[in-house]
Amino acid sequence: MKMCLARAAFLALALPPFFAAFPAAGKTTITVQAGAPGKAISPDLFGIFFEDLNYAADGGLYAELVQNRSFEYHVTANRNWHNLTSWELVNRAGKGAVAIDAAFPLHPNNPHYAVVEISQPGDVALVNPGFDGIPVRAGERYDLSLFIRQLYVGGRWDSEKQAGALPLVARLETRDGDVLGEAAFEVTLPEWRRCTATITPSQTVPEARLVLVAKDRGGIALDEISLFPRKTFRNRPNGLRADLAEVIADLKPKFVRFPGGCLVHGNGLGNMYRWKDTIGPVEQRRQQSNLWSYHQTVGLGYYEYFQFCEDIGAKPVPVVAAGVCCQNSGHTGGTGQQGLPLEQMPDYIQEVLDLIEWANGPVTSEWGAKRAAAGHPEPFGLQYLGVGNEDRITPVFRERFEMIYNAVKAKHPEITVIGTVGPFPEGEDFDTGWKIADDLRVPMVDEHYYMSPQWFLDNLSRYDSYDRTRSGVYLGEYAAHDDARRTTLRSALAEAAYLTGLERNGDIVRMASYAPLLAKIGHTQWNPDLIYFTNTVIFPTINYHVQKLFGTNAGDTWLPAKIAGTAEAESAALAFSAVRDGTSADLILKIVNPGPAPQSLRIELDGARHLAAEAARTVLAGDPLAVNDRETPDAVVPVTSKIPVGPAFDCESPAHSLTVLRIAAQTPKPSR
Ligand code: AHR
Repeated sequence: MKMCLARAAFLALALPPFFAAFPAAGKTTITVQAGAPGKAISPDLFGIFFEDLNYAADGGLYAELVQNRSFEYHVTANRNWHNLTSWELVNRAGKGAVAIDAAFPLHPNNPHYAVVEISQPGDVALVNPGFDGIPVRAGERYDLSLFIRQLYVGGRWDSEKQAGALPLVARLETRDGDVLGEAAFEVTLPEWRRCTATITPSQTVPEARLVLVAKDRGGIALDEISLFPRKTFRNRPNGLRADLAEVIADLKPKFVRFPGGCLVHGNGLGNMYRWKDTIGPVEQRRQQSNLWSYHQTVGLGYYEYFQFCEDIGAKPVPVVAAGVCCQNSGHTGGTGQQGLPLEQMPDYIQEVLDLIEWANGPVTSEWGAKRAAAGHPEPFGLQYLGVGNEDRITPVFRERFEMIYNAVKAKHPEITVIGTVGPFPEGEDFDTGWKIADDLRVPMVDEHYYMSPQWFLDNLSRYDSYDRTRSGVYLGEYAAHDDARRTTLRSALAEAAYLTGLERNGDIVRMASYAPLLAKIGHTQWNPDLIYFTNTVIFPTINYHVQKLFGTNAGDTWLPAKIAGTAEAESAALAFSAVRDGTSADLILKIVNPGPAPQSLRIELDGARHLAAEAARTVLAGDPLAVNDRETPDAVVPVTSKIPVGPAFDCESPAHSLTVLRIAAQTPKPSR
C-alpha cells in the first residue's frame, strides 16, 4: 500500500506519458487532459459526520440555553451529576428549598421535576447558569417556556387548603444579579401547564443566568424550563445555534451522517440510540446518558437532524445500531459488545423499517403521518442508511446485521444500506467486514481510520487498486492525528493530499467525512476535531479550511493528469487532482505540497476550451506546525488572489501548502 507520494499520486493513474514540449527550466510540469471525458466522481463525495461528542449537540449546536432543563441529569452519565446539577436555590430574602420529585411526571419519559417550597415569603431564586453561562445580546428576543403546577398555597401541612395564585418571575440576570429582562407568571392550577414569554435583554452579556424567583408561601412544581434565542438557524423553533450552523453549512456538505459514532451503538444494550425516542414534543422524548460522559436531551432529535440536512442541502445519512452495543461499553461490566436477544430482533428490525417510513412514507402511512404532524408532510427523501458503527465483526454482529440488512433490502430496495468494516484500515475486523459485504452484496461499506499524517501520505493510492466490482466505500470517519493530537497544518495537508486521491477514486469512494466535527472548549472528550467553539466564538481549524476548500470546489468529473519535470522536481512530493464541475463547467485544480521546498509549476491544459484568462488562486500555507486555536485563531487561513492562466501557464506551489485554482468557464462569443 505504501508508495512514494509523487509516483503514487500521479504516475500510477496517468494517461500515457505526455511531456510539455518546452518545459520551463527547473519546473515541474503538470499536464491535464482538460478536454477528456474523464471519470465520474460520486455526487455525494464530501460530507460531514455529526456526533454529540464534545458537547456538540447539548451545549453546542442545539440552541437550548438552559442546562439540565428537565431535571433528568443522572449519575449514570457522569459520576458527579444528579437531577439538580446546574441548578442552585438561593434564598435572597425569605426562605425556601428545592427538591426533586417524580410523583406526578409531566410524561413517563420525563419522570423528574423540581419542587420549590417557600416557607417564608420573600425572594427565593432558582438559578441556572446554562452551559458555561447564558450568552445574550441586547435587544434580541429570547423565548422562555416552562411547565408549572401549583402544589399548595400557604404551608404544606396547613389543615385548611388555601386557594390563590403564586407569583413566579423569570429573569435574565448578570452574574452580579443585575436584571437584564424579566417575565411574570402566576402559578394557579394543580395540573401541569405550559407557560411562555419572550425576554429581551437590555445588555449584551456573555455569561448571564436564568433566575426563577418565587415569592409567596406555597409549593410549585417546575419542569422543562427552556430558553432559546429567537434567532436560530433558519429561525426554526427548537432550533440550532445560528453561527455554528452557518460555519457547518459553509462546508457545503453533500450529506450529514448522524447521530454517531459510538453514541449510536451505545454504552451497553440499554444505551443504544433509538430514533423513536427522539421525535415528538421535546418534553416527551426519552433522554439518556451519553456514552461520552454527559447527558443527551435528544432535543436535537431525528426531526431536527433531517430538517438541518434539508436546510443546508445535504442528504441525511442516519446510522442505526446493528443490533449490538459498542465493543468498548463500560456499562456491560467489561464484557464489551453484546447482541440484542434474538427474540427482540423482530421489533428492532421493525423500528429500522419504521424509520424509513417516517422519512419517506406518505402522510397516509403510520410513520409518515407522524412526520407530517411534526410539520413536514413532504418526504425527506432518505436514500442512505448506515447499519452499524465500526463494530467488532463477530458472529453475534454478523447474525444481527444480516437480519437487518435482508429485511431492509427486501422491503426497501431503493435504500442504499451502508455496512461497517470495523474501526481500523486493515486487520481482522476489516477483512471479515468486507467478506460479509461481499457475501451479502452490501452496496457500500463504512471504513474508519485515525492515523498519522505520514500514514495518509504513504497511502494516497489506497483506493487506486480497489476492486470496482465490490461494494462502494464510504470513508465515514478519518483524521490525520499529528503529535499530541493537534490540528496542525501538517495534518491538514496530509488530509488534503488524501482528498485528491479520493477525487481520483470518486467512482468507488462514494462518500467521505472527517471526524469528529465539533468540540466545545472545556468539554472536549476527543481531539482533534474540525471546529472548536465557545458560547460566543468559533475557531475553525486549518483542517476545516481544507474541508471547505474541497467542499466548495468539488467537481463531478475527474480529469487525468500527468506530472513530469526535472530530477529536482521529481523528488518533490506533490499531490494533485483536476476536476470539472459540470454545472458551471469550471475547471478546478488542487495542488498539495506538504514538503519544505516551494515548487515552480508549469501547468498545461490539454484540450481546454472556453476558459477564462484569469483563475482564482486560493492558497493555504504556513508553518507546518501551526495550529488555529484560541491563541492564534487565524494562524493559517486561505488567501485568494487572481492569476493569469491560459493553455499553458506558470504557477507557484509554496512550501507546505494547498493551492486551489478555479478557472471559470467562459461562454464563447458568437461569431459574426
Ligand atoms: O469520531 C469519534 C469516535 O471515533 C466515534 O464515535 C467512533 O465511531 C470512533 O471510534
